[in-house]
Parts: sequence; C-alpha cells; structure tokens
Amino acid sequence: MLKIKELSKSFPNHYGEDNILFNNLCLEVQKGQFICIIGSNGTGKSTLLNIISGLLKESSGEINLEDINLTSLPEHKRTSIISRVFQNPSLGTCPSMTVRENLSLALNKGKLINFKKCLRHKKESLEDLLKDISLDLKKFLDVKVKYLSGGQRQALSLIMASVANPKVLLLDEHTAALDPKTSDEIMDLTEKIVKEKNITTLMVTHNLSHALKYGSRLIMLHKGRIILDLNEEEKKQLTIENILEKFEYAV
Ligand SMILES: Nc1ncnc2c1ncn2[C@@H]1O[C@H](COP(=O)(O)OP(=O)(O)OP(=O)(O)O)[C@@H](O)[C@H]1O
Ligand SMILES: [Mg+2]
Repeated sequence: MLKIKELSKSFPNHYGEDNILFNNLCLEVQKGQFICIIGSNGTGKSTLLNIISGLLKESSGEINLEDINLTSLPEHKRTSIISRVFQNPSLGTCPSMTVRENLSLALNKGKLINFKKCLRHKKESLEDLLKDISLDLKKFLDVKVKYLSGGQRQALSLIMASVANPKVLLLDEHTAALDPKTSDEIMDLTEKIVKEKNITTLMVTHNLSHALKYGSRLIMLHKGRIILDLNEEEKKQLTIENILEKFEYAV
C-alpha cells in the first residue's frame, strides 16, 4: 500500500513568502489500485507525482510504500520501485538508441553491470515484450527511437516503465500530446499493463472520458486539496456533465 501522511508543500514566491500548495494532504492507495487524478491547471497534480517520485522534496509529511519510507530515499533510489511516463513523448526513452537498446536498458534498470552488458538481450525475449502491442512497435526493434511517432514512443515508454515490475507507476498526462485514436490505443495498452502486472498506478489526465472509462478510483484535486474521491462503483454512476459541474463548483 502507498500511504501519504500529512503531506505539506510550499513554494517561495517573488516576495520571499511561502505559497502553500499542500497542507496536510493524506491519501491511501491500495496495492494494484489504478487512480485517475483530475483537476484544473495548477492544482498540484504534477507536484504530487514529483514528490512521490522524489523529484521534489516535500516541506513536511511522510510517504510510505509498504514497509519502505520513501521520504528518506533520494530520487535515484526510488527509480527501481517507482516508474514514470511523462506527457512529452521525447522524455523517458533514449532517442539516439534503437528500440531494442532502450528495452535492454529498461530490463537492466537498477542493476550494477557495465553498459555493453546492459545492451545484451536475447532477440526473442525482446520481441516477446512487443507481442500484441499496437502501433506495430515490433517492426521497429532496430530503428532509433528518434524516428518513431509520438504514439510509438509513448507505447515504448510504457513498456519500458513496466518491464522491471515497479511497485508504483506514475503517469502524468501521458496521452495529452497524441491524436484521439492513438491516445485511446495508449490508454488500452496502459490498462492492459496495469491489470496484468497489478501495478499501483496514479494517472493524471485532463481527458474526462478517459478518467471515467479507466481506473478503479477517481480523485479530483483543487488547490492542493482532494475535493472528490470516488471508488469504482461510484465512478460508474458518474457522467462527464457531473464532473464538469464539480469543476464549476471548484473555484
Ligand atoms: N518548482 C516549483 N517552484 C515554484 N512553484 C512551483 C514549482 N512546481 C510547481 N509550482 C507551483 O505549484 C502549483 C501546482 O503546479 P502543478 O504543476 O503541480 O499543477 P498541475 O495540477 O500539474 O497543473 P497542469 O494541469 O497545468 O499540469 C502551481 O501554482 C505551480 O506554479
Ligand atoms: Mg501538471
């Protein structure tokens, strides 16, 4: 279980004062739960993921993952247990290396072996990873990632983020830069990976139909506070109009 306890975060403003974003935020996420996080711009969604991944330091509070106190771990030590996929398809993969090389690196994430060894992996095992993956990724095994489309890169980023079986997957608007059809394909792939591997997942999205269709819980953040927290059953009753109403009230 991922447990966020009394998390606070402030940023200094131009006047040397502190702008409080989170003030004693608490959140408990069960193992394997897939949470969609929605909320207006600037409400703290990315900051929350940045704090969980260790990119940003909390002002106070504690985050525990099962029996690990994450708050005491630096970012590089969290990478083997927490994976991320970003909004920008150029992040998360190495563009000047091939799909095969990128996958090999991801499979060896966190291991203390030299770079050459890191790139060695059986052809069949890598092809197997791309089996049933849309966007024809399998055909591109020996193509440099910089020549892939945004959708193919996001599919690769997702596979790379999940191959090493992380305990937590953080997705920050990972379909936002994609066309509607590719975006849906990436969401189907996301759901497949999360379910198969039973990874605890926090997905930030502005796509309300995705927020309704996918995941087992829905959270709305507003000015650093959780103003809506629905379980799977409650989420099923919800319509896009209902969510838009909540946005109207959250001012
Ligand atoms: N490193 C930082 N320094 C100062 N302020 C920051 C920093 N990171 C985030 N903030 C502030 O924290 C608030 C929340 O930002 P955040 O990026 O988490 O919002 P968000 O909900 O992800 O928005 P969006 O939907 O636009 O991505 C904003 O007011 C932002 O300016
Ligand atoms: Mg954001």
